[in-house]
Amino acid sequence: MKAVVLVTVLAACGSSERQTASGTAPTEFEPPPPPPPDETFEQMKARFEAEKPQFMARQLAELLLRYDLEDQPGTESMTRGKPVQTGVRTKLREDLTWDQLAMMSPDEIKASDAFPRGFMPLPHPRHLEGGMLFPRFVIEEVERQTGRDLERFDLDFDLPDHLLPEFPPAIFLTTRPDLGDVSQGQLVTTHNFHALFKDKLNSKQLDGLRLLVLPFAQQQFNLIDDRRSAEPQLGVACFDCHINGHTNGATHLVGDIRPQEHRNRIETPSLRGVAFQELFGSQRALMSVEDFTEFEQRAAYFDGDIDKAALKGMNPLDRASQVQHMAEVQRLLDFPPAPKLDVLGRLTTAASAAEQRGEALFHGKARCVTCHSGVHFTDNDSHDLQLERFFTERVINDMVVNGDGSIKTFPLRGIKDSPPYLHDGRLLTLGDTIEFFNLVLELRLSQDEKADLLAYLLVL
Ligand code: HEC
Ligand code: HEC
Repeated sequence: MKAVVLVTVLAACGSSERQTASGTAPTEFEPPPPPPPDETFEQMKARFEAEKPQFMARQLAELLLRYDLEDQPGTESMTRGKPVQTGVRTKLREDLTWDQLAMMSPDEIKASDAFPRGFMPLPHPRHLEGGMLFPRFVIEEVERQTGRDLERFDLDFDLPDHLLPEFPPAIFLTTRPDLGDVSQGQLVTTHNFHALFKDKLNSKQLDGLRLLVLPFAQQQFNLIDDRRSAEPQLGVACFDCHINGHTNGATHLVGDIRPQEHRNRIETPSLRGVAFQELFGSQRALMSVEDFTEFEQRAAYFDGDIDKAALKGMNPLDRASQVQHMAEVQRLLDFPPAPKLDVLGRLTTAASAAEQRGEALFHGKARCVTCHSGVHFTDNDSHDLQLERFFTERVINDMVVNGDGSIKTFPLRGIKDSPPYLHDGRLLTLGDTIEFFNLVLELRLSQDEKADLLAYLLVL
């Protein structure tokens, strides 16, 4: 029965054949035995391939416990036209409504284990292994353009495409708003960046962009046997995840937490608007784009493991030239236009009545503006949402799940373009974010108020 449900959902989600096959696999999970000593690459690959179906089946079962993954596009669309997914996708205990849940105190929710599982931290498909994982449409287009293969033999990306950002996304430049979207509908890679940008950037910026699309060796994608790609690979590029300076939802594990089961899954944030921000990384709070660029190369690419970095071929970037050039280009990336916002970031008279009610809630009863302030809707600070008020610590698919601690206030400009939401992508739609904050901030908004707030978030 369960297997039938899994296959139906997978078919609806248009997932790859391999995932469909894994959906029919037995859902009883048996932890794999430790790897034998002195495995060859071929043996290691065969072992991981054999273990893949049960990890993918376990992850899918977890996603289905948490979410409704169906494709339910609405009338609103992202900047280049991909429909925004509607509804609240987090599943609720069957005997409760969202309004009833919101009437309970955090203690009551915790005592009766009523906090929705989808609001808890989301594990990586193979948490103890971790590593960079790319959606299939990215793998295909990168390979088509550049011949590089970002496929891992041990894992597939877990969330269905319709719940991810549009691909390829638009690019707006802070320096040339008159140009509009400069992507020309293309994925920017080593093979077309020069043709697309040679007339729009100076040579220093072009060099920065070249480095952002250039592959560098990394933990799973490199030239030695300790890798997760079938063939040796040159590595990954910054823009394989921060695609066109935005995001494709690619995921990995945060590099600097140990032990492994405590590491957070992290979803790629957009680089749009980094010029207007002061903190970088959901938890690390690095103080400049330069610091983060260097950190990605020296630490994140190798899971913070400097021994492996030396072996796999870390490419230390020169701070004064390369890092500086890359950071300068990142700072050119702007949010998409928001025609209904004025110079102060407030709604113009073009906004609908619902959007205006939503803005009033955002600044009033819903208190969003306390943290999402200013014209970019961020206080450039971090906050601890204290989720441990709502649930007891547990282990989900090998990940220890508890409160998140302090996390950066991500900006809300252009927010409809970057699902899924929160640092780990645990919330699938903007509707989910409203139910989440309604609970976390104990707001007790009515259904009408939530609808107005959603209408407002869609114009930011
Ligand atoms: C696996 C895909 C991936 C690749 C490749 C990647 N990043 Fe990131 N990037 C992320 C994730 C995930 C985060 C969030 C980190 C966190 O929350 O701690 C991030 C965060 C950032 C941030 C901070 C953004 C913010 O809003 O706080 C910057 C800047 C950045 N990356 C730049 C780069 C550069 C430059 C490169 C290439 C050297 C690069 N990234 C390569 C996934 C990636
Ligand atoms: C106490 C400060 C605070 C308040 C108040 C607050 N937020 Fe947030 N918001 C955050 C933080 C911190 C994050 C990032 C959390 C994470 O990634 O785990 C966030 C993330 C979000 C995101 C997802 C951003 C992304 O890029 O994934 C949305 C959407 C959002 N908030 C909407 C709201 C709305 C709507 C309200 C009002 C109902 C609100 N927030 C109130 C601090 C706050």
